[in-house]
Amino acid sequence: MALAYPIGALQHGPGVEKRGKSDGFNLMEVSVWPTLGQRCLRRDAANCTAVENYDRFMGRYATGLAPKLADAAGVCAGMRVLDVGCGPGALAFELAGRVGEGNVAAIDPAPQFAAACRARIPDADVREGVAESLPWEDGAFDAAMCSLVVAWMNDADQGIGEMARVTKPGGTVAAAMWDIPGGGLQMLSFFWRAAREIDPSIPDEQPRAGVLEGDLVERFGRAGLRGVIGGTLETSVDYADFDDYWQPFTGGAGPATGAFYASLDDADKATLRNMVRASLPEGPFTLPARAWLALGTVPG
Ligand SMILES: C[S@@+](CC[C@H](N)C(=O)[O-])C[C@H]1O[C@@H](n2cnc3c(N)ncnc32)[C@H](O)[C@@H]1O
Repeated sequence: MALAYPIGALQHGPGVEKRGKSDGFNLMEVSVWPTLGQRCLRRDAANCTAVENYDRFMGRYATGLAPKLADAAGVCAGMRVLDVGCGPGALAFELAGRVGEGNVAAIDPAPQFAAACRARIPDADVREGVAESLPWEDGAFDAAMCSLVVAWMNDADQGIGEMARVTKPGGTVAAAMWDIPGGGLQMLSFFWRAAREIDPSIPDEQPRAGVLEGDLVERFGRAGLRGVIGGTLETSVDYADFDDYWQPFTGGAGPATGAFYASLDDADKATLRNMVRASLPEGPFTLPARAWLALGTVPG
């Protein structure tokens, strides 16, 4: 299936933390995942699989976000939990470490992502499917969570409603989604700022579900969840150097960025690369990211 990522509003002021000392590739974010992310760091993006490119592009952010979302939802031993829109498994892997693989279920419509998630946590119940029609019975889980997924649901209210349905009374539903319009994902902002200088006709995208402040909380309320609270989660990714940041863009890791990059001729690709490079520090640097959080309790 085709994934789409938002072009996002362009943000100003890099907010990039230059790291003082190069220690080679920082594998913190991927090192806990067996094989895929690390293997690709040694190859060109064009030779990486979609999953490997995702891991290098978004997965390293998702891996940093996962323990924070699991903490916010109070996930601990003894619980049975669901990861909706699991992708290659950043959150599901974190959940498995807390409750055991056998107490984790996960679902994603992209077969290659579901397969990658299954490979990482083989004893979990990983299925292909969508949030809007979850294949589990009512009240099957103590918590249902989704990380960076609400924006991609075809019907976000239906998807959140399904998450509430499969969660026990008194259980927790949790969601996180990047604050895209607020510049919460600088990794994308740098790309699109330069892209718009090359092609000013790139349209502003209508904000997707979950990316505006308060949107997740409103949706949780409409789903009938109680005690709904909102907040933010922050993470960051360390890049060894500019190439570490840039390579996933050249491999089509983000479909919107990938499609734009693929539409350019070689000269414009080089121009884009040089413009983005000029906006980032030499050597290692760190990019922060901020997501909206919503938590709610299933009534009853
Ligand atoms: C940005 S990725 C996040 C993946 C994963 N949760 C993570 O944090 O790495 C968005 C995910 O949503 C999935 N997705 C798209 N439409 C969906 C839907 N209707 N229901 C559930 N997941 C969906 C995509 O296949 C993709 O894996």
